[in-house]
Amino acid sequence: MRERTARPRRYVMCRPEYFDVTYAINPWMDTAKPVDTPLAVAQWERLRTVLQESGHRVELVDPEPELPDMVYAANGALVIDGKVLGARFRHPERAAEGTAYLRWFRQQGFRAAASRHVNEGEGDFLYTGTLVLGGHGLRSDRDSLLEVQEFFGHPVIGLELTDPDYYHLDTALAVLDRDEIMYYPQAFSPGSREVLRHLFPDAIEAQAADAEVFGLNALSDGRRVFLPEAATALAARLRERGFEPVGVDLSELLKGGGSVKCCTLEIRA
Ligand code: ARG
Repeated sequence: MRERTARPRRYVMCRPEYFDVTYAINPWMDTAKPVDTPLAVAQWERLRTVLQESGHRVELVDPEPELPDMVYAANGALVIDGKVLGARFRHPERAAEGTAYLRWFRQQGFRAAASRHVNEGEGDFLYTGTLVLGGHGLRSDRDSLLEVQEFFGHPVIGLELTDPDYYHLDTALAVLDRDEIMYYPQAFSPGSREVLRHLFPDAIEAQAADAEVFGLNALSDGRRVFLPEAATALAARLRERGFEPVGVDLSELLKGGGSVKCCTLEIRA
């Protein structure tokens, strides 16, 4: 079996102190269902600890009381080669998060620019090490794909998302290692599925049962793959490929439509 090596990463996270479901902008959100915020914080703390114990650096952005979705740090920006492109959200409820993350990056000394087009950061843009995969159709605008390509100088491959349950690219696809991915084909348009098969013929194709528990909303350091613990079949497939799956329980954050990957934003400096 192939030997996998981890590379230390740097992540930004935001403690879900004010996490709640006060509006519904994706099918997973139900404002009638109560949210246990202390439980969300405890589950999130566990994720942070697991990442740190695995040798990764976690930096924190201060949560804001009016922004219950701010815990989903992945949406705050896209950072490659030390360049930061701040998000522009589709929904007004999340608009101020773009400013908050941009301010944080500037305070850390990064040169950060705001997107002109709707662009939900690493929710829709995933870097494979050579390409940027850009999800559109449900959240980020098609025009944002060209903006990202121009800004970072890395080729962007557009992928059309068609199932509202998988409204961000990172709910249906995860990068495991350089140009190695796993994804849920049914979340994409027929043409985009073809593109994925051409580009990644050896990819792991997930089944519905794993996609539905947000198994694709995963984070890989090259060896360990942090993913929702309910995605057991996917964990077995990862093990076959030499990865070490690390199951994490973020059930409370699933009520907002997010899990492991959504809670982290990678800084590639
Ligand atoms: N409630 C948030 C929204 O619908 C969840 C965002 C999840 N983040 C992600 N990277 N997929 O926008």
